[in-house]
Formats: sequence, structure tokens, C-alpha cells
Amino acid sequence: MKKTRANLFFVYSLIVTLLFLILLTLILPLTSGGDRVIATLILVGGLAVVVVLFYQIYLNYIKPVHQITGTLQELIRGNYKARAFESYHYGTGRLAQSVNQLARNLQYLNRQEKMHGRQLHTVIDHMESGLMLIDEQGYVHLVNRKFIEQFGKTEEAYHNKIYYHVMDQQKVYQAVQEAFLYEQTVKGSITQSKDGQVSHLEFVGAPFFNESRELRGVVLVFHDITDLKKVEQMRKDFVANVSHELKTPITSIKGFAETLLDDELTNIELQRKFLTIIYKESDRLQALIHDLLELSKLEKEEFRLKIAKVNMTELLSDSVEIVRSQAEQKAIEIKFEVANELFLTGDAPRLKQVFLNLLYNAINYTSEGGTILLRAKQTDQWLEVQVSDTGIGIPKALIDRIFERFYRVDKARSRNTGGTGLGLAIVKHILEAHDGLIQVESELDAGSTFTVSIPLTLNNH
Ligand SMILES: Nc1ncnc2c1ncn2[C@@H]1O[C@H](COP(=O)(O)OP(=O)(O)OP(=O)(O)O)[C@@H](O)[C@H]1O
Ligand SMILES: [Mg+2]
Repeated sequence: MKKTRANLFFVYSLIVTLLFLILLTLILPLTSGGDRVIATLILVGGLAVVVVLFYQIYLNYIKPVHQITGTLQELIRGNYKARAFESYHYGTGRLAQSVNQLARNLQYLNRQEKMHGRQLHTVIDHMESGLMLIDEQGYVHLVNRKFIEQFGKTEEAYHNKIYYHVMDQQKVYQAVQEAFLYEQTVKGSITQSKDGQVSHLEFVGAPFFNESRELRGVVLVFHDITDLKKVEQMRKDFVANVSHELKTPITSIKGFAETLLDDELTNIELQRKFLTIIYKESDRLQALIHDLLELSKLEKEEFRLKIAKVNMTELLSDSVEIVRSQAEQKAIEIKFEVANELFLTGDAPRLKQVFLNLLYNAINYTSEGGTILLRAKQTDQWLEVQVSDTGIGIPKALIDRIFERFYRVDKARSRNTGGTGLGLAIVKHILEAHDGLIQVESELDAGSTFTVSIPLTLNNH
């Protein structure tokens, strides 16, 4: 480039020199003597002036203009780093300055645009909802990471494809069609299974327009509502379970009360038996309602533990005293291996509830003559309490389920012991509020061990 420009100067200089030579050969024969010398001198001097002038023009105009043109071409190509050489010459110097200013502005705008693009891309890619952008001709322009997670395949599989070729959910592409047709937002929900996992998705197809209100495409957004559905299902199950649990005692209370009201019943012995049943059933009802209220209290947003320093050695020994008479009825021995002076910060009445529940369970699910061992020790930043029994044990596969509300391994047996199936759900709630954990090890017909770990100091409460 530089070379050709320099050549240009030499070519023009050569042409001018040739012209002068021709002039010289034409003029010289017409002159003689001193005139010839003067004419030659004038022509050579003229040539020198023209070459110098030409060189100046080349240096100040032609060369800078060429350079600036080169810079502009670089800018057109998208290289916004290109700059022109700013000479001191007034005209071209200002031109170069203006071009450089333009280049700087373009570079700035380009950088801004890239940054905005990146920001937008990051936001779209980190959205918790799947997103698909379809242009007015039905071609997919963009799918985000969540969308790929929800529907599988790769970005390339969607990009620049017609939407109904890449979406196999009929409900969705019908919604997109409607959004295009009526230019209105369309909502719907689908179930999507990917890698054997079923998820529930709610979607919105919204048309978008340019400034002159012309339809430019449709944006599809998918929200995962699987967890919401699960909660909804749990609520339904809970209501069904509660109703079922309430129905049984109420039916028997009503039945026996009706029989008692029957005038013909004169047998005092039988009356007493029926009244005892009514009493027991109402007791069960009371326990159930008490546990339900307890659970709902624990689940309330505003529920707060009443934190204080707790003497755990005392709390555990008090708990054993409370359950002792019930254990004695079944000739169950309770061994107490709790270190002295165990302290932690927590809610004492709630913690007592935890250990009473575990101890009652140990008694209820252990046959006569069995043994219960209560151990407690301090490890690092934790207090570890173990309640072991030599009872009936829990099948391995069901261990996780016993913390669910109303879950009982053996419904009939648990009901006989007056159980509501809410005890361990309450235990788990209280321990979670204390940032604690509960683990279970169990062997069928050999016994179970419930290990509770609670941090010694409770933060952020
Ligand atoms: N120590 C244990 N040994 C064997 N099975 C147990 C033991 N503890 C709990 N389970 C099983 O876990 C189930 C759930 O226990 P949970 O304490 O939540 O309910 P429950 O004892 O039936 O009733 P309650 O609400 O009155 O405590 C019990 O029904 C029982 O099947
Ligand atoms: Mg229980």
C-alpha cells in the first residue's frame, strides 16, 4: 500500500520530467547561445519547482487522504481500533482528527453494545424460567439454558428452525399459533418428561411488536411449577388424611353413644364398657387435635423458638422420669448414660417434646421386658443424644418415610398404642428449627436407634 503510493509520486514526477524534457527539446532548437542557457535554466528551475510543489501536495493531501481512506475502510470492516495519523496540516489534519473522533465514538458504542448484549445474554441465560424467542416468520431465534434443561437437545437443534418443527408439545405450538393469530397473550400448562423425570410447566406465549405496532414475533416463557404442584398435592393428602383420622374415632363415638341411648340397654357392665371406649376414642381425638395444632404452630412463618441456656442432663433425666411409669407397665428397663453438665442454647420445652416423643416411641414399639438406652455426649460443637431400643425395628426401605405426617409402619399396631403418626413429624420440625439433625438406624426385630445432633450454640435466631 505504502509502496504503491510512493510509486505514484515517482510516476507523476517522471511524467512531469518527461514533459519538461519534451519542452526542452522543442525550445532548445529555437534558441541559441546565452538564450539557450537561460531557457534551459528556466525549464530546469520550473521542473524543480513543480516537483517540489507536487511533493508538497503529495505529502499534505494525497498521502493523508489515502491513509484516512484506509482507516475508514478498516472501520467499515468493523475494526474500531483503527486510527488515522493526525498530521499538522490544517485541512487533512482536521479530517484525520474527525475520522479518529468518529472511530473513538464507534469503538465506545460498539463496546457499550457488546456489554449490553452480554448483560442481556447473562440475564436471559440465568433466568429461572425457560425462554424461546420466535420471529414473525416462525423461526426460533433464541432459547435459553433453562429451556434446554426443560426440553433437552442443544441450542443448535432449535436455532433458525420453524417452531412447530422443534416443539413436540401440541398445546404449546397451538398457543404460539393463537398468539400470532389474535396478537394476544396465551397461557397454558403442560407436563414434560425428560430423563424419566416428570415436571409440570406453566407457559405464557406473548406477542411482541415494534414501534409502529407491527407484530415482530412471540416470546414463550416456561415456569416450572412441579414443586408447587407437589405442595398442592401434599395439602390435598393432608386434608384427606386428617379427615380420615378424625372419621374413625368419631364414627365409633357416635356408634357407641347411639347404642347407649337405646332405651333397651340395661346392662350396667356393658354401659361402662361402651363409655370407656367413648372416653378412649375422645382421648385419641384430643391427642390428634393437639398434635395437629402443635404442627401448625411449628409451621407458622412467625414461629420463633424461645432460646435460653438449657441444662440437657436435667432435661433428659426429667423426660425419663415422665415416661418411667409407662415403661414399668411393660417391664421395660431404661438405662441412662448421660454425661453430667451438658448445656446448649435452645428451646427447653420443645426439646423435651422431642425426647419424650422418642422415648414414648421406644416404649410403644418394644415388647415387654425390653431395654431402652438413653445416651448423651458432647462432640465438638454438637450435642449428640441417642435413644436405642430392643424393639420391633423398622424396615430399611421405610426409615425415611416415618418422618412424614401420619405415616405409620404398621397402622393397626400404632393405632392400638394411641399413635397419631404425627410424633416424628413434630420431632423433625423442632430439630430443624434448632439447626439439628436426626438419623435412624434400625434392624427388624432387633431394635432401633434414633440419633439426634443439635448444635451447642444456635446462631441467627
Ligand atoms: N422406636 C421405634 N421402633 C419401631 N418403629 C418406630 C419407632 N419409632 C417410630 N416408629 C415407626 O414410625 C412411625 C411413626 O412414628 P410417629 O412417632 O411419628 O407416630 P406414632 O408413634 O404412630 O404416633 P404419635 O404421633 O402418637 O407419636 C410409627 O407408627 C412406627 O411405625
Ligand atoms: Mg410416636
